Amino acid sequence: MSFKIITAAEAASHVKHGYNVGLGGFTPAGTPKTVTAEIARIAEAEHAAGRPFQIGLFTGASTGDSCDGALTRAKALRYRAPYTTNGDFRKAVNAGEIAYNDIHLSQMAQEVRYGFMGKVDVAILEACDVTPDGKVYLTAGVGIAPTVARLADKVIIELNSAYDTAPKGLHDIYEPADPPLRREIPVYKPSDRIGTPYVQVNPAKIVGIVEVNRPDEARPFTDADPITMQIGHNVAHFLISDMKRGIIPSTFLPLQSGVGNVANAVLGALGADATVPAFEMYTEVIQDSVIDLIRSGRCKFGSTCSLSVSNDCLQSIYDDIEFFKDKLVLRPSEISNNPEVARRLGLISMNTALEADIYGNVNSTHVCGTKMMNGIGGSGDFTRNAYISIFSCPSVAKEGKISAIVPMVSHVDHNEHSVNIMITEQGIADLRGKSPMERAKAIIENCAHPDYRQLLWDYLHMSVKGQTCHNVRAALGMHDALQRKGDMRLTDWSEFA
Ligand code: COA
Repeated sequence: MSFKIITAAEAASHVKHGYNVGLGGFTPAGTPKTVTAEIARIAEAEHAAGRPFQIGLFTGASTGDSCDGALTRAKALRYRAPYTTNGDFRKAVNAGEIAYNDIHLSQMAQEVRYGFMGKVDVAILEACDVTPDGKVYLTAGVGIAPTVARLADKVIIELNSAYDTAPKGLHDIYEPADPPLRREIPVYKPSDRIGTPYVQVNPAKIVGIVEVNRPDEARPFTDADPITMQIGHNVAHFLISDMKRGIIPSTFLPLQSGVGNVANAVLGALGADATVPAFEMYTEVIQDSVIDLIRSGRCKFGSTCSLSVSNDCLQSIYDDIEFFKDKLVLRPSEISNNPEVARRLGLISMNTALEADIYGNVNSTHVCGTKMMNGIGGSGDFTRNAYISIFSCPSVAKEGKISAIVPMVSHVDHNEHSVNIMITEQGIADLRGKSPMERAKAIIENCAHPDYRQLLWDYLHMSVKGQTCHNVRAALGMHDALQRKGDMRLTDWSEFA
């Protein structure tokens, strides 16, 4: 079967008000870039004509501005899941304008399959090649592509020639069966391949191919600063000492690393520390720092869901694809983040907190308990199932007005039962094997900024004794001071006496 070449506007016309649209890709990497912008234009025209037009959007993770940004600005989103990073989307969600379902990324494909979010009407995949019998070769990200392509009534392919067919062969596509028929996921080491290098789509469902030539809408990182570099050194130091103690085998264990500036800096520091052995990664995003480490031999293999790298870095990978093709594999998010595989491989997970409390509960998503930052992403998939789960962040934010260590987190994403190690630029709190009070001492002394240590001790001293000591009136007192006085350092515990 040869497929019809259609314009992005013709492709978008298949999407009707009330539809659910599923996208391939993961982060801006490999995410469709033109049809979503045309859907936004349809929404604007329909709204101008006084007619409703809103869709549900299912993705692997965040997308580029031509998707989340354009659709948000056009008020075209009724429902959205899961992770996003777009600023306009964040504002709309925090204004209560979009129903946002922030779920673990490993669960997205299966919850779509289970029907928890309604049917998939249209799927849009970015590809670097398509064969007449429906073999779709993806680009720099996979996400939930195999699932939405199988479930959708109609499939649109954005055939992106920006990188030619260089990504072909990097992917390993595998979709598990649903219970009660599910078997083990047969990944026993990060480099195991268990599926096909393409997504098989029923050719009869492909309504057309949109030809595009657009690079990914990659987001820039800020360069590592002294604080993030110190955090990186602390993480490296912790891993070395655990290896010397025999807790981490001398052959090392695969690393998972989260998103953002801190995570990028941590990996850079790990790579630069020659006492950390060359390692493998089993993770959901590979950022620029890992590509440098693969080149230098410090990272031996990277299993990921996307190459979430800068455009120059992506081009350099494809220019050198013969070198990279046996050192990288791109998997669906259901497999890259699979809890069963994470626990089997014994991952060392390294994710970033917005804030943590003195007992080790972590908030990765909500500023002051109400405003969504990005979402939980894959951090929960890995933290709960890791061999060792690490969270790191700077000890303060906003020029010291916000302490990352608080008496009680204003929102819980990862709880004290799953978080093993807390690291800031101040030091390392090893929470393993400790009671809540022992954890509180370790976190206040080793992780809190000196400006906040006494404040946190004073909170503990005014708390009601118990397995976990708290003062329920004062527990969010530092957040209250931030909101009322603009600075957590102005917390006055006597207001709660
Ligand atoms: N309260 C309010 N704002 C805070 C804060 C807090 N406790 N802690 C940090 N911030 C602000 C920072 O000041 C910064 O603001 P700016 O953008 O205006 O400068 C912003 O949050 C980001 O902080 P930064 O220190 O640059 O961290 P980051 O880029 O590493 O991102 C997360 C941190 C938590 C937002 C990011 O890692 C994330 O979205 N995590 C959740 C998903 C996840 O972990 N996925 C990984 C699985 S692979």
